Order: sequence, then C-alpha cells, then structure tokens
Amino acid sequence: SKDAHIVFTPSGRRGDFPVGTPVLSAARSLGVDIDSVCGGRGICGRCQIQVGEGDFQKHKIVSSCNNMTAFSSVEERYASKKGMKEGRRLSCQALIEGDLLIDVPAESQVHKQVVRKRADVREIEIDPPIRLHYVVVEEPDMHKPSGDLERLQAGLEAQWGLKNLHCDLRTLQTLQPILRKGQWQVTVAVENEKTIIAVWPGFKEKAYGIAVDLGSTTIAAHLCDLQTGEVTASSGIMNPQIRFGEDLMSRVSYVMMNPGGEKEMTAVVRESLDILIGVVAEEGKIERSDILSMTFVGNPVMHHLLLGIDPVELGGAPFALTLNSSIHLYASELDLNISRDGRVYILPCIAGHVGADTAGVILSEGPHFQDEITLICDVGTNAEIVLGNKHRLLACSSPTGPAFEGAQISSGQRAAPGAIERIRIDPVTLEPRYRVIGCDLWSDEEGFAEQTKDFGVTGICGSGIIEAIGEMFLAGIIQTDGIIDGSLAEKSPRVRSAGKTFDYVISESEPVITVTQTDVRAIQLAKAALYAGVKLLMEKLGVETVDRIQLAGAFGSHIDVKYAMVIGLIPDCDLARVQSAGNAAGTGARIALLNKKSRKEIEDVVHRVEKIETAVEPKFQEHFVNAMGMPHTTDEFVHLAG
Ligand code: FES
Repeated sequence: SKDAHIVFTPSGRRGDFPVGTPVLSAARSLGVDIDSVCGGRGICGRCQIQVGEGDFQKHKIVSSCNNMTAFSSVEERYASKKGMKEGRRLSCQALIEGDLLIDVPAESQVHKQVVRKRADVREIEIDPPIRLHYVVVEEPDMHKPSGDLERLQAGLEAQWGLKNLHCDLRTLQTLQPILRKGQWQVTVAVENEKTIIAVWPGFKEKAYGIAVDLGSTTIAAHLCDLQTGEVTASSGIMNPQIRFGEDLMSRVSYVMMNPGGEKEMTAVVRESLDILIGVVAEEGKIERSDILSMTFVGNPVMHHLLLGIDPVELGGAPFALTLNSSIHLYASELDLNISRDGRVYILPCIAGHVGADTAGVILSEGPHFQDEITLICDVGTNAEIVLGNKHRLLACSSPTGPAFEGAQISSGQRAAPGAIERIRIDPVTLEPRYRVIGCDLWSDEEGFAEQTKDFGVTGICGSGIIEAIGEMFLAGIIQTDGIIDGSLAEKSPRVRSAGKTFDYVISESEPVITVTQTDVRAIQLAKAALYAGVKLLMEKLGVETVDRIQLAGAFGSHIDVKYAMVIGLIPDCDLARVQSAGNAAGTGARIALLNKKSRKEIEDVVHRVEKIETAVEPKFQEHFVNAMGMPHTTDEFVHLAG
C-alpha cells in the first residue's frame, strides 16, 4: 500500500510512513520532540498531539482527523480518567491511516519554553537534568540468575535506550521492596542519563525541585514542577542567622569572637531550610520524597555557612573563598530532608564578595548574550556590580554599608506596614505628602488616617529614604554638596535647626519622622561607594556610558529608578533603559534547576568574568570623593535635564 505523508508542526519535519505506524514512532524517527514518561503505554499522557490543525496549504497536505485509527481502548481509559482536550490524541496509541498534519502542543514537547513576565529577558528552556522513566522489569528467575538492579538496567536499556546506568546507594537500599510492591513495574528518576537517583512502585507522574535564594535577611524557596517548569509553591522566611548579626560582616565577626560560632549558624540555617522545604511541599500538596533536586544561590558568606565552612577568611583582605566552583552534593549532606538521594547544585561564586547570587543574576539577565553594555547592580549592605556584554564582563563589589536598607538612618526601618516608601515635596511650600506600606492612599488623601490607624506611620524604609533625599534635592532643600540649606528655616517650619545642622521634618506626630544631616551623609557615602565601583568598571572596560541598567535584589525592585538617578546612585542613562530586575538571583537558581545546559553556561561565564578588587584600586578613592556630590560633582547627567 501507499505510504502516508506526515508533517509535524511547529518543527515542520515531514516524512512518509507505512499505514499502521504509531504516530509517536513516526515522530521519533524524524527527531520530533515529543515527551513520554510511560514509554508508549498510554499511561502518562505526555505524548499528546493535536490532529489536523495548522496551515494545510503551506505544508501541501490534504488531511482530515479521520486519517488516523479511532480512539483505542487505551485512549478511552486515559481520557475517562484524566480527561483530554477536544481533538487530542495519544501519539503512542494513534496509528497513521493516511496523510496527516500533526501539531505537537508546547506541553507535549520535552524542551518547552517557559515565558517570563518580562519581555527583555531570555525565556527559560525546560531541559532538566532529572527525568522520569516508567519501566517494566523482568521478574527473577532461578534458571537465569541475575540481580534486581541488573534486570532494571536491562529494562531501561531495552525500553528507553539508557545504557550503563549507575544506581545511588540509598536508592539501591529500597530497590527490592519497591520492585515487588510495584509488581515489577516502577518509575525511575535518572539524572543526566547516567544515574538512577530514585525509584517508585508503579507509574509516577511528577517530580519536583526547589530553587533557593539564600539571602542574609530572607530565604526564599520556589517549588517547581521539573517537567513543566511551573512554580507550584513559593515561600520565604527570615534568615535565623540575624540573631548573630544583622549584616554579613557582623556575622563574620561573631565567628571571629566566638570560635565554633559558624557551626551554630550552619545548624540554624539548615534547620530553617528544612522547615521551608516542608512549607512548600505542603503548599504544593506533595511529599518531600517527590523533591529530587535543589539549587542554591547566595552571597559568599551565606554560601560558606550553608556548606559548614568557616567564613572568617572573607572578613579581611585578600578575601579568599574556600572554593569558587559550582558544587554538586547529596541533599542529605546538608541535612536537607528531600528524596533519599536528592541532589543539590550550588551555583559558582565569582570571587571575593561577589558570590553565587551574582552568578544567578547573570544567568537570569544574560548580559553575556548582548552587544550593548549592561550594568547590573545588586544593592544590599554590599553592592555587587557587573558590567559588560558578550565580549567582556567585569565584576566588583563595593561596601555600601547598611544605609540603603534603612539602617543607620535616624527614622529608618525595615520595609513593613507603616514605613514611608513614597514621598513628594512641593518645591514652593516645601510641604511633603507620602505613602506608607500597607495603605494605598497618599497622606493628604481622605481616609489615610483611618486606613493606617492599625500600624501608624512609623519610619522610612530604604526605598523611601532614596526618594526623600531625591525630592529634597529637587526642591532645593539639599544642595549639591549634600548640605541641608538652613536659610530655608525662615521660609518653612519643615526645615528645623538641630544644633550646627538642620533637619527636614516629614511627619510631626509621634514618632516624629525627620531626615537629618547625618542621614543625608550616610546615603551620600553609600551611593558614592556604589557609583565609584561602577565608574571603576566603566573605566576598565573603556566605556563612557552604559546602554542599560538592571537593578537587582529587593532594594532594586522597590526604588523608583528616577530617584536613583537624581541622587546619582547609578550613572546617567536613558531612564527608559533602567529597570528593576526583580529577584534575578532567585530566577537564576530556577534556570539552573530546570535547564541542565545552563549550569555549564554559568560555570563558563563565571570563569571568564574579570574580577576587580576595589580595595586595591588607587582610582577608587578619587571616584568615591567625586561621587559624593548630588548627583555628582563632575559627571554630567544629561538624561535628568528637563
Ligand atoms: Fe505515555 Fe503516550 S507515551 S501516554
């Protein structure tokens, strides 16, 4: 009989096949990407196709849905159990009867893309290192003696083409009861087509992983479906190490003063991580044993403390890390209770205080793919700065101190209900109006008092202080040198003498909220440190301007970029090209969880990042002094004009 002509979309691959060929076999022989966990047994439903949709003319094919065998009993059973959309078929069951145009929907592809909310960044291609395979194993036979593992391996080779698989010990310990419980039908998780890392009786549909951003203030975890890439649960908790010190350096000094203190900090962070795993597992309605892998990003001090490595070398020059490379571990080595042989991957660190969190940011933002010069700043108590493009990438860290987090600011506080986060100052009357976290009204709007009565107006958060100082500068209250202009005290009661200097009063009621001269100084020092680091990298790279700026981290996602430029926290740039990258480090951890190639990619990129040590650069001090002015003593900010 005549062969049938088959076209697959979206790949456009085509070929001729004898009538009676299963669609999945035809797809496989053409190299069309169709997923399967059950190996063509009509159980998993991953191999679904849509028949007869698409551009018939373009593909020169006349087709109808009838050119395939009718629903088989296996498909009937699957559809009645799990449900199937109109026009869908299981490609492992449907047989070709004539010419066909077949669409492979995104969810049936192995290498599917997860679209991210922002248009300016790469999509995440789902290609996880761990995959599930359902396999039927031969039963033991006294006449052909062989081990259970050997028969499992033989099944995986025959049914999946997976050769020479190893099996992890803790999984091996459970193999015999599981094979018998599953009546010789099991699902195995295989890592990198090399190692069996988990086995379940019968058919197992889903496997999960967790991406963790281990911050010094908060720890955030995202539970992801390893097959779809979907984030099924997210949660965060405070880093319990805070009780040993607010910021990184005070935690390092805790260890210096209390030998063995690193062990306490390692223990508490691991405990919290384990709690967090429990929280996301519950939220995602899964078992801990369904979680096969975790990825981590974090700054070098967090990185060392997670691993149980004493961080004291990071407390002083030359800031040597124990290791820069990425790390593969068993979760059990970090006391993390997930699947018995669950895996951990920790992204590489760059050098000094530029850690795996910055590697995560690079992976997420992808400056190494671009022609244009990207500047990425992740601002916290330390600023991590990355500058460059696909030809060259430079990185440094700069000691900005805790001012941007609202610490060391007289009315500063953490971002919490009652904290001022937005502020506007009338340039004529010098009267302020503001908004606080927890209320969406401005202070001069009706209902503000009512809506804030439960928490009041308590202080200014990090993004609020940037705006307050930016607005004070725009209203002429602060001069270019950062001095609060005392002559305005005659004009407005908001400018008030405080001994030798002046304060600006934002709120009169208790607690009185002011911006003091010392506050302005603290912000000037912090922003000058950041700017000087940026300037140093621009000089090393030989560029006068940057094409785009990405502000990463919690601080970066809350500040209004306009004010960041008004006070000269970042260099001059088209404001439309300055963006918040959100939690880019966490996204980097997610990419490393879901795409195996990205691990090699970030390892290679990190390897060629040129690390600049600001502490030994003679020009740093000069850049720092010049950056104290608002927005800058010498550099021009053409994009701020008008
Ligand atoms: Fe599993 Fe078709 S491959 S249902």
